Amino acid sequence: MVLEFDGVKKEYKSSDFKLDGINFDLSEGEVLGLIGQNGSGKSTILKMANQLVKQDGGSIKYLGQPLESMSDEDLRQARKKIVYIFQSANLLENKTVLYHLKLVYKLNKTKVDEDEIDEILDFMQISRLKKSYVRHLSGGQKQKLAIAMALLQKPKVLLCDEISSALDASAEREIFDLLAKIVEERKISIMIISHNLDVLKNFSDRILLLDKGQIQKEIIPTKSANKQEDNYFNHVVEYFYD
Ligand SMILES: Nc1ncnc2c1ncn2[C@@H]1O[C@H](COP(=O)(O)OP(=O)(O)OP(=O)(O)O)[C@@H](O)[C@H]1O
Ligand SMILES: [Mg+2]
Repeated sequence: MVLEFDGVKKEYKSSDFKLDGINFDLSEGEVLGLIGQNGSGKSTILKMANQLVKQDGGSIKYLGQPLESMSDEDLRQARKKIVYIFQSANLLENKTVLYHLKLVYKLNKTKVDEDEIDEILDFMQISRLKKSYVRHLSGGQKQKLAIAMALLQKPKVLLCDEISSALDASAEREIFDLLAKIVEERKISIMIISHNLDVLKNFSDRILLLDKGQIQKEIIPTKSANKQEDNYFNHVVEYFYD
């Protein structure tokens, strides 16, 4: 298993929110969707997966090793491989695409590899934007840059928190197609939060439904056009989601 959540608990002092014993696994190359109402704790789960937020109890293992008992250095190395992509990409408006990609090497204190940068730009279909300033990019192009930066870290897990929610339908489709290509070619696992259930259903291997501080259901979506199972999915989702 790449990630294992075992009895993970979390409360925030200032709110009545509570996650009360979350259990799930993420295997290699798996795409795991996460759905639930606003405030149900989806982002909190993703943040705990790379320890941006620490759990109060239970264990989160990465490749069999509990994150909560790692040394600072081991945790730093593990966190590089479990990359959180933010809702609105955290980019510098007055810097170029190339600047951002070089920044990844600087932050990791490694030598800039221009060939690798060109390869990632090509993979993400934004080669022609290499010298463009972020302020001139569309929302979809910014998200592609954020994903490109994440890929330079050679992640094992990508944590995608509503990365397509500000995009129109065709830009969103494009981002999901690229993510599918990433999973297929790079054996990366993905955890994804999205309010677009149709896209999520087509993209995820499994979907966890979060409600009342727990995972209430695990749904294996059918990618075929099976009307009956589709109705079941919609029914279950509506029940918890509305
Ligand atoms: N740092 C924090 N301090 C206090 N409360 C917090 C903090 N972060 C989140 N919360 C609260 O915890 C709950 C869960 O938040 P979380 O962001 O995980 O939900 P979510 O499922 O991602 O919601 P959304 O769909 O709106 O993004 C919310 O009620 C939120 O207000
Ligand atoms: Mg959220």
